[in-house]
Parts: sequence; C-alpha cells; structure tokens
Amino acid sequence: MSNCRACNTEVQPFMSFGQMPIANGFLKETEFSDEYFFEMEVAFCSACNTFQLINQPDPERMFHENYAFFTRTSRAMVAHFAIFADWLKGSYLTGENPFAVELGSNDGAMLENLAKAGIRHLGVEPSANVAAEAEKHDVKSLVAFFGSKTAQDILDEHGPADTISAANVMCHIPAMNDIGHAADILLKETGVLIFEDPYLGDVIEKTSYDQIYDEHVFLFSAHSVSSIFGPHGFELIDLLPQKTHGGSMRYVLGRKGQHVISSSVREILNKEQALGLTDAATFDRFRENCERSRTMLVSILKDLKSKGKRVVGYGATSKSTTVLNYCDIGPELIEFISDTTPIKQGKLSPGKHIPVLAYEDFKAKYPDYAVLFAWNHEVEIMANEQGFMDAGGQWVVFVPEPAIR
Ligand code: TYD
Repeated sequence: MSNCRACNTEVQPFMSFGQMPIANGFLKETEFSDEYFFEMEVAFCSACNTFQLINQPDPERMFHENYAFFTRTSRAMVAHFAIFADWLKGSYLTGENPFAVELGSNDGAMLENLAKAGIRHLGVEPSANVAAEAEKHDVKSLVAFFGSKTAQDILDEHGPADTISAANVMCHIPAMNDIGHAADILLKETGVLIFEDPYLGDVIEKTSYDQIYDEHVFLFSAHSVSSIFGPHGFELIDLLPQKTHGGSMRYVLGRKGQHVISSSVREILNKEQALGLTDAATFDRFRENCERSRTMLVSILKDLKSKGKRVVGYGATSKSTTVLNYCDIGPELIEFISDTTPIKQGKLSPGKHIPVLAYEDFKAKYPDYAVLFAWNHEVEIMANEQGFMDAGGQWVVFVPEPAIR
C-alpha cells in the first residue's frame, strides 16, 4: 500500500516497468557491481488526478556533482529559454526592481538572459557542477534543493520574489506540498509561480512512456496542478502548451483572486476531461499501449539484427534508460549510443550497458539505422543529419509508435 505523494489518499500501482537503474547513471565497467536498481511502479491518484512514481531513489543518487545533464547541449532549448525569458520579463517582471528566482537553473541557459538585461535574479540548483557553469555566464546561483527552508533564507537575504519559475524541474520534486508552502513564503502578494514540464496529456496521447524515469516523480496535468497548489492559496491563471520535451505544459499560478484568469485554463481543463486524464481506466489502456509498443520495437530491432544491419542509438537521453531497460534491449541489438555530452562519452548506458560514444563516432561511419532516442529534438536533429539520410541511413522511432522512417 502507498499513499499519494500529493494528497495522501491511498493509491495502487497500475503498472510496473520492472527493475530500473538511475536514468542518468552512465557508468564505467568498474562500477557495474555497485549499480543501483529500483522497481519502477507508477500510480494514478483518482482523488487529485496526479500521476506519480511509487518509489523514487534518494535525490543524492540522482542529482550530484557529476550530474550529466546540461541544458546548453541543445541549441533549440537555449533558443526556447531566450524566448521564455523575454516572455517572463514582458509579462511578470514589469514592476520596479523585480526579482526572479529560478528553480533547477542548471547551467544558467534561461537566467543568463535576465542577467544580461540587468534583472535581479537567483538560480537555485542542487548540482554543483552545472551551477558552476552558470556562474561563468554571470548567473547567480545558490547550490541547494528548494523548499520552505531555502525560500525563507532567500526571502531574508533578497526580499520577496516577483516570479518563481522552473522548467523541467517541478516534476522532479517529490515534496510538492513543501513547494506550495515555499512559494507562499517567497512570492510577493501579486507574484507568480510558473513551471513547465512534460505534459501527461502528451504522454497518454503518444504512448511516450519514456518520460517516466526516476527523476520524473510526477507527470502533471492542469487538473493535478490545480489540486496540488489550491490548498496553498494558488489558482491556475494561465496555461500555455509547449513543444519542448515532446509536448510540455507551462502552468502559471497566482494567489487566488489576484489575477485575471485566461480562457485557456477552462479550455484545457475541458480537453483533459475529454482525453480521460481524470479517469483511472485511461491508465489501464496506457499500460496496454506501452506493452504493445515494447513488443513492436523489439521485433523491429531483432529483425534488423537478423538481416545483419548496423544499428546505433542517437542521444543517450534519460528517457532511453526507460526504453532500453523496459524493453530489455542491450548491446546485442544496439552497437553504441552517440551523444554530444562529454561527461557521458566513454561510459556505458545505465542497466543495459550499451557503450556511449562521441557524436564523431556516428559521423565517421554512419550505421544503417539510428534509434532516435532524443526524439524530443527531432527538428534540430533532422536538420543536422541530412548527410546520414543521404548516405541511406534510416531512423527507428518509437513515438507515437515503433516504425522505421
Ligand atoms: P534531453 O533532451 O535532455 O533528454 P532527457 O531529458 O531524456 O535526458 O537529452 C538529449 C540528449 O541527447 C543529450 O544527452 C544530448 C544528446 N543530443 C545529441 O547527442 N545530439 C543532438 O543533436 C541533440 C539535440 C542532443
């Protein structure tokens, strides 16, 4: 028996993805014997409509000084955050000497834009190595996990915030109620809490189960966000769907009664009901769709192997850890995974131990097929990989369903 992480109602898992390693836990052979696994079960709480992991490894296992994710590895994400910063500035940082706080500010890709505009800001980032990178871009960072204690410290030192924003961060934080409390402590009366994360609606529609991994303890919908933050005095004032991470939602919350509510809030809440995001039966169908997707992907890869084709992976994403371990795909089917992040190169993928090599290895000798693990960057990748396709290379995709393209 488990209790909902958001509202404490009893919840039952509707699915297990089996034993999973740390999604970003790229490792060396000498570390195999210490590799950590946990059972990745997921539940949907019918009381507050929140999709969640039952078990999550300790944060220290996932976010540490060797954390392997840097926002700046994607040009499209850097561009996205420049637009985000402009929007934030124009919409919510218009008062006198505004103060913007960002949670999980990573290498400063978003805050750098505010720093350049001379706006008071503070990034709160638990991984020291990425925060050090942010400092190089004149972004002020506090190396810490965010919560009510940190919020009080920031308030004491800097005063109240106009905005607390977070991109691809909130869904990582298990203590959501403490975040609601912390936002209440730190925000001005008219301040706003803004976050965007992979959207449950897209995951259900596209069977993109690879968004589920250790770090993503929640997959939010407008219904769940409203349930989680309502008791802390906040209401949704705007919702803005985003293309990032294969389909995300930007949630804007303000204190009840302080803001005009955009019509998109009602529209999206209605759409969610039509999509079944408030109905437990939807998640049983989702489980069946995941099982079907797994069978199809393994069958494609085995078929290519039997025909003697060279298959590699493109992008050693966190998401790929779920796909590879859930589908039980290892180096016997995928020769290596190409990735541009230096810290991942020369290591092996979590759990299935597929070698991760530099992008140059992909380019030096194109394979016959590349599995598009970084499918959320498809537009950027297709623009870069005309050479691979001209050489006869083809893509293996698995979202919205496994296919060769
Ligand atoms: P990311 O989008 O953050 O996905 P996740 O959250 O699942 O980890 O990671 C993309 C990964 O793909 C990152 O390791 C960098 C790599 N990558 C490439 O190797 N080539 C590319 O062209 C792009 C866009 C990303």
